[in-house]
Amino acid sequence: MAIRSYKGVMPSFNSSVYVDESSVLVGDIKLGDNSSVWPLVAARGDVNYIRIGERSNIQDGSVLHLSRATKNNPDGYPLIIGDDVTVGHKVMLHGCVLGNRILVGMGAIVMDNVTVEDDVIIGGGSLVPPNKRLESGYLYVGSPVKQARPLTEQELAFLKISADNYVQLKDEYLVEVY
Ligand SMILES: CC(C)(COP(=O)(O)OP(=O)(O)OC[C@H]1O[C@@H](n2cnc3c(N)ncnc32)[C@H](O)[C@@H]1OP(=O)(O)O)[C@@H](O)C(=O)NCCC(=O)NCCS
Repeated sequence: MAIRSYKGVMPSFNSSVYVDESSVLVGDIKLGDNSSVWPLVAARGDVNYIRIGERSNIQDGSVLHLSRATKNNPDGYPLIIGDDVTVGHKVMLHGCVLGNRILVGMGAIVMDNVTVEDDVIIGGGSLVPPNKRLESGYLYVGSPVKQARPLTEQELAFLKISADNYVQLKDEYLVEVY
């Protein structure tokens, strides 16, 4: 498993977390209980930090990075992901803040200083440009994303179900691996 320190700081998580052995995690990364990181994810907590909440899943081939502090932006842009977030296959998350119960569709790109409020779906292949705020309860699609419509009750419920499905799946993988 490629879990490496950067300037003496190692990624940290407990035994409820599944990290696929093909993924690379470096530096200041903390994963909450029951979260999961799937094959070929690259996450670098080097020039800032990455936080991932509880029961969130980062699916195959996704890339997670952040932006360093500068004179004009003394905190830089860390990457912060809340609870019950589903990050689909091959997503790029860079220096942004995601709330809780969010689905980031396959292949989406979310750039620096974006805030995604709770209970949002970002459609597959979408691009969220820097500094945007996506409002709670809506579907966003396109490149650049536009607010498409309010989420249905069924979709809002699905956000939690999706995260729970991945908690169950990672428990099955943990039995296989350990
Ligand atoms: C976003 C999504 C949930 C919308 O599904 P939907 O209910 O079929 O969407 P709607 O029919 O309400 O679409 C609204 C509009 O957005 C368009 N649209 C839907 N998904 C889109 C996408 N990913 N990118 C661009 N436009 C999209 C539709 O064509 C429609 O446009 P129109 O009004 O001009 O006809 C679905 O397309 C999607 O991207 N799901 C992501 C799944 C995923 O990646 N899961 C993670 C891996 S497990």
